[in-house]
Amino acid sequence: ARAAGAPTPFADFRAVAASSADAFEVPEGYRAHVVIKYGDSFANTDGTQLRFGYNNDFLAFFPLEGKPDEGLLFVNHEYPAPFFQHGVTRGADKSVAQLELEQYSVGNSVLHVKKDAAGLWQIVSPSPYNRRITGKDPECEHTGPLADETNHPRVGTSSKGSLANCSGGITPWGTALSCEENFQDYGSDPATSAYGWNRLDPEYDSALWSKYGWVVETDPYDASWTPRKHTALGRFRHENTAFRALDGKRFVLYMGDDVTNAGVYKFVSTRPFIPGRRAHNLRILEEGTLYIASFDHSRREFAVDGDTTPITPTSGVGYWREVLVTELEDTNVRIRRAVEAEEAGAWNRHFATNRPEDVEVDVDGTVYIAFTNNSGVKDRHGSIRKLVEAGNDPTAVGRANEFRWVDYAGGGDRGEDKPAGERGFSSCDNLVFDREGNLWVVTDISSGSLAGTPGAARWYRYHLNNAVFMIPRSGPNAGIAFRFANMPAESEGTGPYFTPDERTLFVNVQHPGEETASRGVYGDVSTYTSYWPAGNKTTGQNPSTPLPSLVA
Ligand code: FEO
Ligand code: CA
Ligand code: CA
Ligand code: CA
Repeated sequence: ARAAGAPTPFADFRAVAASSADAFEVPEGYRAHVVIKYGDSFANTDGTQLRFGYNNDFLAFFPLEGKPDEGLLFVNHEYPAPFFQHGVTRGADKSVAQLELEQYSVGNSVLHVKKDAAGLWQIVSPSPYNRRITGKDPECEHTGPLADETNHPRVGTSSKGSLANCSGGITPWGTALSCEENFQDYGSDPATSAYGWNRLDPEYDSALWSKYGWVVETDPYDASWTPRKHTALGRFRHENTAFRALDGKRFVLYMGDDVTNAGVYKFVSTRPFIPGRRAHNLRILEEGTLYIASFDHSRREFAVDGDTTPITPTSGVGYWREVLVTELEDTNVRIRRAVEAEEAGAWNRHFATNRPEDVEVDVDGTVYIAFTNNSGVKDRHGSIRKLVEAGNDPTAVGRANEFRWVDYAGGGDRGEDKPAGERGFSSCDNLVFDREGNLWVVTDISSGSLAGTPGAARWYRYHLNNAVFMIPRSGPNAGIAFRFANMPAESEGTGPYFTPDERTLFVNVQHPGEETASRGVYGDVSTYTSYWPAGNKTTGQNPSTPLPSLVA
């Protein structure tokens, strides 16, 4: 079916059918090519040799003035894959060199990119912009209420590098924000599938977790800039950030806490946003107040597993409740206890949601939240919720200023009678709007649930591989999710981002062939479940190790 959203160079395409192929598939008239993949080398002009990290997730394009076909890509790297990187999956069994390889492979990359004569994006190397931030370097500076060695020694004034970078966001003053999410995975806690980095440095261990789990700000235009972790934004499983900036008004940042039954937050700055005053704006995230969304009915719940008719309301009201950020606990643990002390059951009724992934703000100020799924309340497929602030004022807080919310697009099977490419989405994750307001959605059905995986749940069989969708928000196709691109086997599409001219959409392909780690034999490529991007498991072409890659 023809998608035909509001017109942009991308929004008029023939939707592709769901696929299980080990390939990155795009509609007729489009082409996809790999810009960079795990392990690829690039360099700074100071002579530093750099390698692209593992599991690239967030990405944002930063333009270079006067150069339409050139720019900077800020990319982050969420977590390592010990099986594919060196074959040893138990933290205690790894050599120091193996641990260091993992440590280097997370964090951020800043890439200078340029279109070549054929219109393909290539890395410019060496370039003074090219940079890697790793799980060890550089020393990041802490800001805000907890950045203090005397009163808050567990947080202190700095930390080694950055890790668990999931999604992120940009600021209107030209910096990137990268979100530290599953920081609990890096130490030695046997209850988690921990990476065991505590053997390199006790700072990674559970006793010292307070160094990670923050939002980290970086200036992609200055490779010598010291990244800053902003403690005023709270410490939780940060997914991403989305801002709303009105001239001369306090700056607002929306954020999701990606844990089942966790909440949606917003930060309201103390300092106003003043366009053009970069030095002033660079201090905006240092001081302000954090709030959590209280909904009249927080979760979309279903009576029958797999049904798509919720038994809870799909619209209502809510308000923003203030949260204190302290040193000793995750922000969500603290607010949850405070809420429950006032009213038993209040957390689940008002604050717990179906796992907030991306939050994005539309041009009209409406906030869109991707609730990915929550099998605990039989929400297998997730939904996208709209939130409109009281008086459309992003700084509105407290019970006197109720926001309105509505579940805008629900995941799930729309039925076999629907055209291929319009069967529906599941497990929405990252979102982005194009300039005409079409909503682009990438999905993250867990690899173990995807069709083709032994024991996969039947709920997802219609969907096959993860994909990129476009949802037009006006016209005859409004609200329908059209399948634009299919991801390779057992991968997740992340970080969709358009160039300013919207002739290119960048997408990260994260964890292709992920299930190999539990079933494959290291070094025996024929046992791997994906050969992408060098080969194709489905056709048997060029058996090779799958590599997370950035696609244009
Ligand atoms: Fe790393 Fe919330 O996805
Ligand atoms: Ca991910
Ligand atoms: Ca995500
Ligand atoms: Ca996800």
